[in-house]
Amino acid sequence: MSPAPHAARLFDVAGRAYVVTGAASGLGLAISQALTANGARVLLVDCDADRIDEVASRLGAQGVASAVDVADAQALQDAVDRFIGDSGRVDGLFANAGISGGPGFATAAGAVTGRLENQDSSHWSRVLQVNLLGVLNSLQAVVPAMKQARRGSIVITASIAGMQAEPFVSYSYAAAKAAVIQLMRQSALEMAPFGVRVNAICPGFVRTGIGGGRLHDPAVEADLVRRIPLGRLGAPHEIQGVALLLASDAGSYVTGSLFPIDGGALLGGFLSSPHPIDASP
Ligand SMILES: NC(=O)c1ccc[n+]([C@@H]2O[C@H](COP(=O)([O-])OP(=O)(O)OC[C@H]3O[C@@H](n4cnc5c(N)ncnc54)[C@H](O)[C@@H]3O)[C@@H](O)[C@H]2O)c1
Repeated sequence: MSPAPHAARLFDVAGRAYVVTGAASGLGLAISQALTANGARVLLVDCDADRIDEVASRLGAQGVASAVDVADAQALQDAVDRFIGDSGRVDGLFANAGISGGPGFATAAGAVTGRLENQDSSHWSRVLQVNLLGVLNSLQAVVPAMKQARRGSIVITASIAGMQAEPFVSYSYAAAKAAVIQLMRQSALEMAPFGVRVNAICPGFVRTGIGGGRLHDPAVEADLVRRIPLGRLGAPHEIQGVALLLASDAGSYVTGSLFPIDGGALLGGFLSSPHPIDASP
């Protein structure tokens, strides 16, 4: 029997090197904080140049800022190559950058624009470019080095909107998130013989800057919490535990898996009935 490991050792990322896209805000920032606070070096990729510089200076020497749009495959590859050259390694990628496609058909703001007959291909193309092709570009940027090292962990930020119909978000967003889940499965299968693991996290509703910050609107929140069994929106730091699990050796036998982090939203059912569950002790 092997000795029981200490949690700090099991989840250890110290001295390792990771790439995080969309690192200037929300979930990407929380993931980057968890990694750097535990001694990892992180390439902080974001298209918001001012903000990513500010985040890098806050995170200290462990954070390396890179103002790159993930839709620009060559710029991303160049940045990742420089980082791998400097670090001498790459242990993981969080392909996390993403944008909203606007409000869904069941929201006040999207009641007209979110309808099926009002879908506009130019708008779809930017959402697919960032949320789908940006993820593909990110995987392609790290995979040659990981295959050579015969190890690595890739984590894609998908969404519960890629797992079930979600009227709060746009068609384009839901379609792109479903597509990256399949991209995750396809690449997990191909990469497994190289020792490279690929998984996806599927957040529910987490209060970040996405969609112009509409998850900070109390009216939107009141509407959403009826569908969340834990009774509240998530906070970005609540992604950090799963991020560390997948980045570290704690997740060494996990590949091709989805990790919903959603306060139970995927359980289904509205909690707005006249007979709510009595949660008193
Ligand atoms: N917040 C939620 O409720 C929620 C739910 C499910 C999935 N997600 C996903 O989580 C990921 C992170 O989003 P968030 O909620 O933290 O939003 P956010 O807006 O707070 O952060 C996203 C970051 O990505 C950056 N970014 C956007 N497009 C980019 C591009 N083309 N290239 C590089 N950087 C880019 C932004 O500048 C921003 O800093 C996204 O993929 C999003 O779809 C979020």
